[in-house]
Amino acid sequence: MDISTGSGATEMPNVSTGLDVRGTPSDLNDGRPPPHLAKYYYQRHRLFHKFDEGIELDEESWYSVTPEKIAQHIADRFAGRQVVLDLFSGAGGNAIQFALAGAFVIGVEISKEKISFARNNADVYGVAQYIDFVQADVYEFVPVLVNSSPLVNGIFLSPPWGGPDYTSEEIFNVSIYSEIVRLAKEVCEDVGILLPKTVDLENVKEHFGQCELEHNYLGDKLKTVTVYFGALVCKPQAGCDPNLGDMSDWLTES
Ligand SMILES: C[S@@+](CC[C@H](N)C(=O)[O-])C[C@H]1O[C@@H](n2cnc3c(N)ncnc32)[C@H](O)[C@@H]1O
Repeated sequence: MDISTGSGATEMPNVSTGLDVRGTPSDLNDGRPPPHLAKYYYQRHRLFHKFDEGIELDEESWYSVTPEKIAQHIADRFAGRQVVLDLFSGAGGNAIQFALAGAFVIGVEISKEKISFARNNADVYGVAQYIDFVQADVYEFVPVLVNSSPLVNGIFLSPPWGGPDYTSEEIFNVSIYSEIVRLAKEVCEDVGILLPKTVDLENVKEHFGQCELEHNYLGDKLKTVTVYFGALVCKPQAGCDPNLGDMSDWLTES
């Protein structure tokens, strides 16, 4: 199924990178984003519309946080789930939206620093009390959960893609995530994973099996791909509205 719904997001205006705003990267000592971060800084309100209210990001988070509209859209898919496990929770972009959508969120993140940014950012959005962050290695944490049947209603993964240069390969091979996705599905069948826009449908099918692949656009720009499993798969015949959110193009393969 391929549905075009038109663009739902507006281009951000060019904003000067003044130093008097809060939320500049924590590791900048002169307060100015280094040139290689400038493009992310221009889009800061796309990452968090409350950016100026005290959002904190470190350098890696600038290019790895999920843009707010995409995180919101994914959270809509998880609507109604009481407990969502957010694996690789980073600076909190997805965790905040899951909490705003009504879930209690358990964020799992290896970096103590990022957890402290995520807590701060959740506070900016008024949802800090709905998110618990666990500092752990996802690849050690998930296998333990497989044997303990936790009360989790949905699992979301946004693993690192290898830095901002991930597009250097024409096709992003998802085989590196097949084992963690398989384990996550053993904990809870309803799983979503955020992937680079350069994934290939055949490669996704080969390594993940039955799933739905969704293209996530902001305006006319393809930003990310989200793959869903279990009851998260959109079934239009079952009343699921594929026009939820602001994505302008969907491709469903199931
Ligand atoms: C793409 S970012 C996640 C962004 C997050 N969804 C957000 O919107 O802020 C990936 C995160 O995974 C974390 N990470 C990398 N390897 C990990 C591991 N083995 N276990 C847990 N977290 C890990 C990184 O520190 C990084 O914050």
